[in-house]
Amino acid sequence: MLVLVKEDYDDMSKEAAKIVAALVRRKPDCVLGLATGSTPLGLYKELIRLHKEEGLDFSKVTTFNLDEYVGLPPEHDQSYHYFMWENLFKHINIDPSRVHIPHGMADDVEEHCRWYEERIKKAGGIDLQVLGIGANGHIAFNEPGSSLGSRTRIKTLTEKTRQDNARFFKSIDEVPKYAITMGIGTIMEARQLLLLASGKNKAHAIKITVEGPITAMVPATIVQMHPKATIIVDKEAAAELTGKYEG
Ligand code: PGA
Repeated sequence: MLVLVKEDYDDMSKEAAKIVAALVRRKPDCVLGLATGSTPLGLYKELIRLHKEEGLDFSKVTTFNLDEYVGLPPEHDQSYHYFMWENLFKHINIDPSRVHIPHGMADDVEEHCRWYEERIKKAGGIDLQVLGIGANGHIAFNEPGSSLGSRTRIKTLTEKTRQDNARFFKSIDEVPKYAITMGIGTIMEARQLLLLASGKNKAHAIKITVEGPITAMVPATIVQMHPKATIIVDKEAAAELTGKYEG
């Protein structure tokens, strides 16, 4: 596990974009696993810049997003479909037929989750999975206590996660109670992981993820077991780390 400590959010985002762009150049038909939330916004902004200014070509790239709220249609402005199109896809030359995001309005959620796993397999697996981390150590919507071998499925959001995400909704009552999320086992099968964290709100989760024991109570700690994981944090998120890490 490579841990990089960057000066600030901007540096963290640019370093992450370098890693993603290098993969897209080396393997133009790569499969990217993508995340939502405020953390990857800077990464997506930089990828858009690289596309517009340096011709970074996404036309053959396939994407799979980590999760989606249950009950929100794709056009809802808090759905992760909407987020991804607004903040990345509509600004790059991605082929819409290669974009995959769990469907929050699926009639048969279990069947949809099986289908999603199958699509990942058919695409040849995920080459690089981008991850954020919750203040409670969740990855995607795999909340504390999630099975470390779990697959794509429906999960109940914790009260903490609903509160953390309430800032995007008019009130906490509007925050969905369930989400479809890739499982921890699904995420761990990606050939490379890129976990990003910024700000002091994440310092404790990062401390445990990097230096704590592996536990289902902090799902992100499983990243320690991945053969090719990079964690990029800014100084604030690194504040509680005691080891020495590269800049
Ligand atoms: P954030 O969310 O990027 O908005 O902090 C990360 C997460 O909850 O996984």
